[in-house]
Amino acid sequence: MNDFLLFLGKFFKHGTAIASLAPSSPWLSRTTVRNIPWDRVKVLVELGAGTGPITKVLAEKARPDCRVIVLERDPDFARILRERYQRLPNFDVVEGDVRDLAEILRGRGIDLVDSVISGLPVPSFPKDLQRDLFRAVKQVLAPGGSYNQITEMPWVYLRFYRKFFDRVQFAFEPRNFPPAGAYFCQGVKDLS
Ligand SMILES: C[S@@+](CC[C@H](N)C(=O)[O-])C[C@H]1O[C@@H](n2cnc3c(N)ncnc32)[C@H](O)[C@@H]1O
Repeated sequence: MNDFLLFLGKFFKHGTAIASLAPSSPWLSRTTVRNIPWDRVKVLVELGAGTGPITKVLAEKARPDCRVIVLERDPDFARILRERYQRLPNFDVVEGDVRDLAEILRGRGIDLVDSVISGLPVPSFPKDLQRDLFRAVKQVLAPGGSYNQITEMPWVYLRFYRKFFDRVQFAFEPRNFPPAGAYFCQGVKDLS
C-alpha cells in the first residue's frame, strides 16, 4: 500500500492522533529542517515521524557522525520506518510514545540533543501531555538548540508555541496539501 493510502486510512481510524490526511510533502519536509546547522549537529531527534517524509530529508542531510533518533508510536508506521532507515548506521528507529522521550534517550546514553523535529499533533494533545512534552524538551534540548514543529494550520498556533518558548518564528510552505509550514522555537520556558 502506498504511503498516502496508509496515512489516509490511519487518519480515518485515529483522527486527531494522526491529525493529517497525507504525509508532509518534500517541500514542507525540507522547510521544516532548513535552520539546522548540519556541520555542527551531533544528536537530533524526530518525534511522530509517520511514514518518514522528514526522515528522508534527515537521511540526506545528516552527516554520518550525527546520531538521529526517530520516534513513532504507531506500529505500522514504525515498521515502515525501520524498513527504510534502520539500516543507516547513525539512525535509530524507536517504536514508542513521546511521553517516554527522556527515558528513551537516557536508555541510549543521550542526555542532550541539538535539535528536536516534531510532526506530532501537539495542539490536539491533552494539556497534561503538552506540558510533559515541553518539560521533556526542556530537559533534553541543548542550549541554543531548536524545536521545529510542522503545522497544517499556518500561523494559527503562533501564540500557542509562544506560551512554551521564548522565541518562535514561522515559515510558510504553500507546496503541501493543505498549505502548511513550520515553527522554529528556541528557549523552552520553565513550566514548573
Ligand atoms: C501529522 S502526523 C506527521 C507524520 C510525519 N512526520 C509527516 O510529516 O508526514 C503525526 C504523527 O505523530 C504520531 N504520534 C501521535 N501521537 C504520538 C505520541 N504520543 N508519541 C509518538 N508519536 C505520536 C502519529 O502516529 C503520526 O504518525
